[in-house]
Amino acid sequence: MKRILVTGAGGQIGSWLVPRLRELYGAPDVMATDLKVLSGEVIEAGPFQVLDATDAVAVGEAVAVHKADTVYHLAAILSATGERDPRAAWKVNMSSLEAVLEVARERRCAVFTPSSIGVFGPDTPKNPTPQDTVMRPATMYGITKVAGELLCDYYHRRFGVDTRGVRFPGLISYGAPPGGGTTDWAVDIFYQAVKRGTYTCFLGPDTQLDMMYMPDAVDALVEIMEADPDRLVHRNAFNVTAMQLTPEGLTAEIRKHLPDFSIAYEIDPVRQAIAESWPDRIDDSAAREEWDWSPSFDASAMTADMLHHLSSE
Ligand code: NAD
Ligand code: SER
Repeated sequence: MKRILVTGAGGQIGSWLVPRLRELYGAPDVMATDLKVLSGEVIEAGPFQVLDATDAVAVGEAVAVHKADTVYHLAAILSATGERDPRAAWKVNMSSLEAVLEVARERRCAVFTPSSIGVFGPDTPKNPTPQDTVMRPATMYGITKVAGELLCDYYHRRFGVDTRGVRFPGLISYGAPPGGGTTDWAVDIFYQAVKRGTYTCFLGPDTQLDMMYMPDAVDALVEIMEADPDRLVHRNAFNVTAMQLTPEGLTAEIRKHLPDFSIAYEIDPVRQAIAESWPDRIDDSAAREEWDWSPSFDASAMTADMLHHLSSE
């Protein structure tokens, strides 16, 4: 039996993950938490409480009261927001992870922590980017994610905490908007295509990044936590990807459905520099070998599904 607590449940990932976990493990057993009061399905379909994940005492109490044996720790500040306030990114990302890991050590919980392609930097091989390689990121977000991976591995090795994680690429979804990342353009482009027929992109036309459709990301979150621990050579964290997109390439995909769609470019130097420091294509063969990772959506299937859902909203 699993009793799960999710931090940062109101964000882009949590709004998809919580309903899926409740479907799999039962609504009363999945406690959604977030810094802010939420509305909609996440609070209506199961337990919810406001929780600041940086508050170690409050995290401990929430885990104890809910009798959680697994924590999905999603609360964080993402890359672009993190560059606007690097100290806040360090404080939120590191204090919350440390709080969750300490509680997990005391109460023998398993912990999932999402890492990111943001762990890589300008010195990392870009195409393909191996599972085990240079990790010297140029952003505060990336620094917290590298430190977070190391801390999760430490808690596993030193204290036996069952920590697992994946390095997500940019995630594309409808529903909750993305929370201040460099890959947000690949979500915004769909909303603007449906609403206005045109989009102004903050990255250059041929800036290539790894991406994934949210249904595949949610599968990854569930599958890695269900994976046989004896097969896991790596833990924190696995490269996972599903497709590689450029603004120009995604525009061509969207035009197959909306032939009049147009794109313009107003490059944001901060986010362009972040994107250029990240891989063009990560190698996710370790995830495929160790827990049978295999995404279902490529660029064409994702585009058709996004446009279908947004057009009928
Ligand atoms: P998001 O910004 O959409 O959501 C984050 C949530 O955390 C928000 O609801 C916010 O209110 C909450 N939060 C912030 N500070 C908090 C605190 N102190 N206590 C409790 N809650 C707090 O982010 P997301 O896209 O859902 O990402 C979740 C995780 O996945 C993050 O660790 C992020 O780094 C990682 N990730 C996301 C992507 C992506 O493309 N979305 C890619 C790679 C990794
Ligand atoms: N999508 C995330 C970001 O751009 C990657 O971790 O910050």
